[in-house]
Amino acid sequence: MKNFVKIIFALVVLVTVVSCGDKRTRSVQYMPDMYVSVPYDANSAVGINGAASNLKPVAGTVARGQVPYEYPNTIEGYDAALKELKSPLEANEANMENGKKMYAIYCATCHGTKGDGNGVLAQREKFNGVPNYKDRAITEGSIYHVIMHGRNLMGSHASQLTVTERWQVVHYVEKLRNDLLK
Ligand code: HEC
Repeated sequence: MKNFVKIIFALVVLVTVVSCGDKRTRSVQYMPDMYVSVPYDANSAVGINGAASNLKPVAGTVARGQVPYEYPNTIEGYDAALKELKSPLEANEANMENGKKMYAIYCATCHGTKGDGNGVLAQREKFNGVPNYKDRAITEGSIYHVIMHGRNLMGSHASQLTVTERWQVVHYVEKLRNDLLK
């Protein structure tokens, strides 16, 4: 009990010493980080510890894991992709399998599981003008281009699919189209 009283007394003295004094200057700081935080200097070339913050990437650089897509969302871009752009993937079973899965999730609602344009949203007339793949003169390049940029009523699906998944879907769409053309 005596010790307890001593501790309380000591605390009261400490707090009194620390808190009284010149009010215009700070006295003892227990946890200086809480008072003096390290600010980020937004938009400066040299931020905290010399690291830049909030800056645009240097022109011509590519973020890790990203693959730039150079065909613009124009008629010329579409035509160029249609003619030149080729898949880096093999049309093997594993790629086809995953393409089918992704197609079922992201495309079949409009295009139908067979690619005939008879998906649920087309049947319910939520989306009009969904084509049958066999009626379009499309190539692997143009299919990839349409996934990247969309086309008229169809929006871009680039954010839903990775580069590899896009090409897998492309191969699956080509397979569906060939089946429809038989
Ligand atoms: C919300 C409905 C919808 C979804 C989902 C959708 N599409 Fe489409 N798609 C359309 C419509 C509508 C068109 C017709 C666009 C036009 O040419 O006017 C179209 C056209 C196309 C074409 C033909 C474009 C051309 O060059 O003539 C391809 C290929 C295609 N879609 C592939 C896909 C793929 C692959 C997916 C899935 C990643 C997908 N679509 C998802 C609605 C959709």
